[in-house]
Amino acid sequence: MGIIRKIRRGNFAKVVASLHPGCHQVPSKTALNRYPEIFAAAAAAAPYARRILSFGCSTGEECVTLADYFPAAQIVGADINPVNLLTAMRRGGDRIRYVYASDRLLNRFGGFDAVFCMAVLRTPKQDHIAEHYPFERFAERAHYLESLVRPGGLLVIHNATYRFSDAAPSFAYEAIPVAANHNNVYLPDGMTEAKPESCIFRKRLAAAGVGFVREQAILQEWEKIKIRKKHCPTKHPQQTAGELTSREYQRDS
Ligand SMILES: C[S@@+](CC[C@H](N)C(=O)[O-])C[C@H]1O[C@@H](n2cnc3c(N)ncnc32)[C@H](O)[C@@H]1O
Repeated sequence: MGIIRKIRRGNFAKVVASLHPGCHQVPSKTALNRYPEIFAAAAAAAPYARRILSFGCSTGEECVTLADYFPAAQIVGADINPVNLLTAMRRGGDRIRYVYASDRLLNRFGGFDAVFCMAVLRTPKQDHIAEHYPFERFAERAHYLESLVRPGGLLVIHNATYRFSDAAPSFAYEAIPVAANHNNVYLPDGMTEAKPESCIFRKRLAAAGVGFVREQAILQEWEKIKIRKKHCPTKHPQQTAGELTSREYQRDS
């Protein structure tokens, strides 16, 4: 729908969203308890969750629902659309806080026990999907949201155009089975249809060393050390890749 038509129809939330370059899914459709099987499975997998993020919370119904499923948790609802946030804020709730979805702000909250991203990282288009919504756009946000989950916490990505498992190496996450209807998703080419294996992923405790986002930084660091060693072989004679990983892990965890 064109911007002028949206203005004529008084759909200001859609107008604001369409003008925002960082907006993924433009429509704000939401409902209370919209995904009961998924919320129940997540609550069973993380019964002691204390800090939860609803990324793309729209007008707040998802946050209200999460507060019911996680009675001990503080909920942060984040959305890129200020019109939706204003509606959400009117809804209130002792344990719910609404914020604008800027990375800088969300980084400060970080270390969530569960991050929900439902019906946000997607395009409603049915064809030329990769042109409208390239996999890289999805993967960038998925990686970012992953970085906000504490080790052992959950990332719940549902109703997305692509699969989280195609953006993340399998060692970094355990997929938790959910008896829910999964929408069809696409492989990174945006053409081949696929089935997601789940929508709930538990970030593995850093047993394998590090999360996949940090892995790249550590490999780069390791390269630098190899170069330093080459030029100054006795400076760090005892250093191994394993030691580097565990040191990095201690620093980051
Ligand atoms: C269809 S609603 C989903 C609402 C709710 N999560 C649900 O599933 O019922 C999509 C929401 O995602 C928000 N959104 C889109 N791109 C976003 C982004 N980059 N960061 C945060 N929110 C975003 C939109 O403003 C909209 O409110």
